Amino acid sequence: MRLPENFVQEVLDRTDIEELVSRYVTLRRTGSNLVGLCPFHSEKTPSFTVTPEKKMFFCFGCHAGGSAITFVQKAENLDFTDAVAFLADRAGLTMPKESNQPDEPGVSRKRILDMNLEAARFFSACLWDPAVGKPGMRYLRDIRKLDDATIKHFGLGYAPDSFGSLTDYLRKKGFTDAEMQTAFLCGKSAKTGRSYDYFRNRVIFPIIDPTGKVVGFGGRVLDDSKPKYLNTSDTPAFKKSNHLFALNFARHSCAERMILCEGYMDVIALHAAGFENAVATLGTAITPSHARIFSKYTKQVVISYDADEAGQNAAVRAMRVLGEVGMEVRVLKLNDAKDPDEYIRKFGAERFRQVLDSSRTGFEYRLESILSRHDLTVANEKIKASGEICAEIASYWSGVEREVYLARAAERLGLPVEALRTDVERMRRRRMNEQNEKERREAQASVKNFGDRINPDAAKDPRAAALEEAVLGMLLLFGEYRIEVDSGRIPLTAEDFITEFHRRVFEAMMKMQNSPGGFRYAMLGESFTPDEMGRIEKMEVARRELTHNGPEVFRGAVSGLRELRAQKDIKKEDLGAQLAYYREKKAKIQKREGSEQK
Ligand code: UTP
Ligand code: MN
Repeated sequence: MRLPENFVQEVLDRTDIEELVSRYVTLRRTGSNLVGLCPFHSEKTPSFTVTPEKKMFFCFGCHAGGSAITFVQKAENLDFTDAVAFLADRAGLTMPKESNQPDEPGVSRKRILDMNLEAARFFSACLWDPAVGKPGMRYLRDIRKLDDATIKHFGLGYAPDSFGSLTDYLRKKGFTDAEMQTAFLCGKSAKTGRSYDYFRNRVIFPIIDPTGKVVGFGGRVLDDSKPKYLNTSDTPAFKKSNHLFALNFARHSCAERMILCEGYMDVIALHAAGFENAVATLGTAITPSHARIFSKYTKQVVISYDADEAGQNAAVRAMRVLGEVGMEVRVLKLNDAKDPDEYIRKFGAERFRQVLDSSRTGFEYRLESILSRHDLTVANEKIKASGEICAEIASYWSGVEREVYLARAAERLGLPVEALRTDVERMRRRRMNEQNEKERREAQASVKNFGDRINPDAAKDPRAAALEEAVLGMLLLFGEYRIEVDSGRIPLTAEDFITEFHRRVFEAMMKMQNSPGGFRYAMLGESFTPDEMGRIEKMEVARRELTHNGPEVFRGAVSGLRELRAQKDIKKEDLGAQLAYYREKKAKIQKREGSEQK
């Protein structure tokens, strides 16, 4: 669907970019800008900038940039239209009705969310209907020992043992088979192409995002059959690695601390026992994007994974990922129970609270695990253990933390603090050098790849590309120059552009300039991908940072570009002339040879 420009403009006018971005990034004010850690790549020093006055954002690290719409496209993984709808929804605006073309390719986020809500209602109704939901209810109440209040609180449901009940229900509500399949509520029959229920004879856990929308489902079997859980795969409205189960509840009581578990049932048991700050990933390992969610909501995360080896290894990984974003991390080791759910049932909430309060910091946890692997009475072993512990301490950024841990390690190892400190500092220097080198290499590689991907021609003609960037940057920044170019007072046409990407930007820009609505930066998002928008914003930012953008600079860049173009054309003409000459010569030779043969 093509959106009316005025509508897009109104959505943007009503969007406070600072408030929007703040939901994803902690921003700090510096002058007229706001800065924070980029949500689109991993970094420890902030290079992500929001300019509220221009309603733009730009990351100097990964070159993501553009309008609020581009931001939502990237952050929520949406296309241009859906990103506008997302912002319109927040601003309380109604999206214009779709035009009369009936079938849109692709299913919108909104449709999927509507459908999920209907499905959640259906599953819940089934569970509470004794004629249908008995097996599910028996499982939840008798086997999992959940009370009715908890079942209601989490909106749990039951998918009947049937291939068509949800499908029929959704059809009646006006959803198409294609839509149900896109939402992963239905599978597609290989023979007929028709839908059938994806979740059958399972208890259903709706996944609800912090804004209260049902984004997906998990469904558990009622016995020991496999697979134990089925989950919604990624849809246009849902990306597993961006969600945490029960965050919609946990967000109200998580300011100090959150508990991270592995399973849906752990979270439900914890909430029921009064620990409403518990969440779980959706059957996937924790990702940096999860870590950023935690850092938005809380100060400390207590990891409470399963007691088995797999769970404990996953805990070490989770500790790293959370540590990367500067979270304070603790780890619970539960004895005599396989997971928090079982622990609470066996020992009660009070015992769990005690374990929680005595949970070890990530460091303590690793210190003890290293010590347990070495026999400190053997000199060689002791040296090895010290080495491993020093490496651990060296990995902390905060000097205070390192000092605290050094003291603790010295005590446990029975060695002087100074000896350990020397080792730690040496390792830190080496690490930092390696880190700097790595970041430098990565930055260079990414700049190169980036350039290659978005404007492959730039590598062939860097001089032209640079001039074009200057011209486009100033055109983006100053309406006067756009008018000058549009009216022909400054001669510049699409043919003057040598690299293809820049020519496209120029064309899109001038086409809009010429339209009744005039130039609207954010509307470029309709013709360019978020990555391309980042590149466009980079050209604008680059000029914004320079003080020399006067008319003489603009005219200079334009004529520089036109000269380059002319030179290229001459070369082309030369080549043409040479080719003609050789062709003629060849023809002559052939003619001569022909006559000689006679
Ligand atoms: P668990 O097997 O520990 O499940 O997997 P659980 O939540 O403790 O469930 P119960 O107590 O046995 O009923 C942890 C999480 O891994 C995902 C689910 O999100 C589950 O909650 N998982 C597990 C799957 O996605 N698929 C599976 O087949 C198994
Ligand atoms: Mn479990």
